[in-house]
Amino acid sequence: MPTVAITGASGFIGQAIAHRLCKAGLKVRGLVRASKKNLSLEHQNFTQVSGNLENIESLHTLVLGCTALIHCAGAIRGATKHDFIPSNVQGVANLLQVCLSQPVPPRVVHLSSLAAREPSLSPYAWSKREGERLFQKDAGPLNWVILRPPAVYGPKDEALLPLFQLGKKGIAMQLGPPEGKFSLIHVEDLTDVIIRCLEFHTVRSTILEVDDGLPNGYSWESVFHIINPHIKVRLRIPPKILLLIGKSNERLSRLFGYAPLFTTGKVAELCHSNWVCDSLDARQQLEWTPQIPLEEGLRHLFASDRLMFLKKN
Ligand SMILES: NC(=O)c1ccc[n+]([C@@H]2O[C@H](COP(=O)([O-])OP(=O)(O)OC[C@H]3O[C@@H](n4cnc5c(N)ncnc54)[C@H](OP(=O)(O)O)[C@@H]3O)[C@@H](O)[C@H]2O)c1
Repeated sequence: MPTVAITGASGFIGQAIAHRLCKAGLKVRGLVRASKKNLSLEHQNFTQVSGNLENIESLHTLVLGCTALIHCAGAIRGATKHDFIPSNVQGVANLLQVCLSQPVPPRVVHLSSLAAREPSLSPYAWSKREGERLFQKDAGPLNWVILRPPAVYGPKDEALLPLFQLGKKGIAMQLGPPEGKFSLIHVEDLTDVIIRCLEFHTVRSTILEVDDGLPNGYSWESVFHIINPHIKVRLRIPPKILLLIGKSNERLSRLFGYAPLFTTGKVAELCHSNWVCDSLDARQQLEWTPQIPLEEGLRHLFASDRLMFLKKN
């Protein structure tokens, strides 16, 4: 049975992928940082490798004898380039070095981000682009493909769920410009396209955008209309206020020593008006069709959210 290695197995996207691969009968080896004791992924096909992207030895243990590696780990919180370099740049360099040292290097699927299309917007976007450039520059004979997803939603996502929940209650909180357009993808569709990448080895040395297939993307208005056609309150936070919140959060994070999610860089990303994907290449080359339109994805999301609430109480 082939073994697939995955980094970021404790994360929102990594867990979903690892779970699907295990259920499909593959052996999965997942890199998990030592601090994560309560990983919910318990499956007979799953083996945990304790370590991190900075530790070359743990990366060797992870990759040894694997036919494929899905690189899902990445820092998504931070205020400066220094916060993102260890995971998103040096981490890629370390993985490339370890993969290239294998007698039979694995096929590598690297999860980048649509943010990499606009590297000047934020330290995060810059770091994702730098990770891609390392593949293009240093991957030598390695067989790799890079995927650029837009915002990903689904169960266990902590970024978009609060906005969706507010929308459900009739409050539309718009964080970007009114003319802003963006694509979305459900985590299960993203998992599907990653599995296609494992099958289609001939699609290599390329960067592919992936989304739910909606041409021209969503506006904030259209998303809130899908969530709740009877919105009662519309809140649009002006960019100046968003920047103020981002700056304050950065100061607080320095004071209390946490990695901030909402930063001035995140505000610059939110205020960018075009986050629409073109997933035609991915669909054609990987013979893949996204299956989950937003209406259906949200229905499942709210159902699982209700279930979690019932379990907690
Ligand atoms: N969510 C989205 O909307 C979205 C959109 C586009 C691209 N992406 C990309 O998709 C990937 C996964 O994102 P996510 O949303 O699943 O984020 P997440 O829930 O924060 O997961 C990130 C994962 O990476 C791990 N990680 C980070 N730095 C690491 C390091 N130095 N060594 C080992 N593990 C490390 C984390 O481990 P811990 O659990 O120990 O922190 C976690 O398992 C990221 O590369 C992100 O850039 C996400």
